[in-house]
This record gives sequence, structure tokens and C-alpha cells, in this order.
Amino acid sequence: MSAAKTNEVLLEARKLTRRFGGLVANQDISVTVARGVIHVLLGPNGAGKSTCINMLSGDLPPSEGTITFMGRDITGLSAAQRSRVGIGRSYQRTNIFPQFTVLENVRLAAQSRNQQPWRIFSKAMEQKWALDKAHACIEEAGLGKRADWVSGVLSHGEQRQLEIAMVLATDAQVLLLDEPLAGMGSDESAKMVELLKKLRATRGILLVEHDMDAVFAVADVITVMVNGQMLESGPPAQIRASVAVQQAYLGTEESFHV
Ligand SMILES: Nc1ncnc2c1ncn2[C@@H]1O[C@H](COP(=O)(O)OP(=O)(O)O)[C@@H](O)[C@H]1O
Ligand SMILES: [Mg+2]
Repeated sequence: MSAAKTNEVLLEARKLTRRFGGLVANQDISVTVARGVIHVLLGPNGAGKSTCINMLSGDLPPSEGTITFMGRDITGLSAAQRSRVGIGRSYQRTNIFPQFTVLENVRLAAQSRNQQPWRIFSKAMEQKWALDKAHACIEEAGLGKRADWVSGVLSHGEQRQLEIAMVLATDAQVLLLDEPLAGMGSDESAKMVELLKKLRATRGILLVEHDMDAVFAVADVITVMVNGQMLESGPPAQIRASVAVQQAYLGTEESFHV
């Protein structure tokens, strides 16, 4: 990753619209995820944030609009195909096997996406590669001391770290994270914020988050959604100063004194 350019555009959604029958869950949503950047999708419940993430991850086809990844049109790719090109997401309901250890879970994630031409190598080599990869990702996600723990006994916050380790093991360049701080206490939350900042150095992150303190602590760009529409998008200072955002979503100016 040393040659990676900061601010290189990785994922670009243009005018995504998604309808559910008569309901327009997303209308003309355009978001960009660049390397070195944490882009936060902010908005009240039902605003359309998860729908947007689902379209970016390939879990939900858009009704209209296009998505490119590193310049290539990926609108028609499935979630599995997107994972292989470098788009990783965490799910609110986790894919963790609770009876497996942290290491086993992450190793499985690594193997599920591996594109190495193992057939010309040996099974043992593949296993070593996956094990090394898993250890590195567990370390990067801050779970180094938990590698041999059964996943089910991890704290809530650690389970979210494990999900991130699993996404990292897929070599994701873009991390799509839907409310990774949900249900966390303030200590766990602060830890996750630090982790996200660290991961941003070499990747791009699109994050859905409600907690205002956390949003302003991590965001480089914020897109505010209301009723399936983009209300405003820009750096935190612009969002803080936006009268439209204050009126539509945040209520009072006091909300910004974070
Ligand atoms: N699969 C679905 N079928 C029908 N309506 C949906 C579906 N998913 C989301 N919606 C609707 O789309 C709107 C946006 O939902 P969602 O994207 O989950 O919002 P958010 O994540 O911001 O809370 C809501 O009105 C929700 O009920
Ligand atoms: Mg949601």
C-alpha cells in the first residue's frame, strides 16, 4: 500500500435512486469514497442510509444510477464480485461464527476471497498464507490479544473489531460500515473511532453513524440525508454551518457544540 495515493477516488456513486414500490428510499444520491478519507452518511432513521450502503455493496440493485470502482463500472456486479474487486462491508447482523476462535473466523474470511493461484502451490502454503494474513488483520483491528479466544465470549465492541478484521482479511480498499458504533459504550466507541482513523490511512471508509460526537471526531466529509434525498454534502465545518442541516435534522445550533 506504500504507493497508494491519498485522495485517490476509489468508489463513486452517481445519482443512485432506489424505489421500493411507490417509496423512493434514495433519490439521486451521489457519494464518493476516496483513499485516506472517512465519509460519513448522517441522517435520521429511515433517511435511506442503509439503502445507500446496500446499493454500494451490491446487496441491492439501484433503480437508477451508476457505481464505479477505481474507474470501472461495477453497477452490475454482485456483492461477492464487489468483495473480490476490493469493496468490503460489515453487516449489522454479523457473519461471525461464535463458536469459532477469532483467528478461525478471520482465516475463513481471508480464504473466502483469496485469489492467489494456489493450485500451483501447496495446500500447506495456502494455509500458511491465510494464517499469516489473519494474524496481521487481527493485529490491525486491535485484537492481537484475543486471537485464540472463542468469538462468542468477546465483548460487543470486540465483536465489532472482529467484523472489521474479517473485512480487512478480504483485502478491502473501501470499507462500508453501517453503524459500527451502535450499542457501544463510550470507551468502546472511542476505541473504534481510533481504529477507523488508523484504517483510513490506506483505505477509504464510508460510515453510517448517528452519534454526533463520533461523526465530528472522524469525518472528513459528511453527507446528510433526509427522506431519501441528499440535503448537504461537504466537510464537517460546512455541515456545522449549514442552516438547512440545522433546521432539517439537528434542530438547534447547540447540537454542534461538540
Ligand atoms: N427492502 C425494503 N423494502 C421496502 N422498503 C424498504 C426496504 N429497505 C428500506 N426500506 C424503506 O426505505 C426507507 C429508508 O430505509 P433505510 O435505508 O433503512 O434508512 P436508514 O438506514 O437511514 O434508517 C425507509 O422508509 C424503509 O422503510
Ligand atoms: Mg440503517
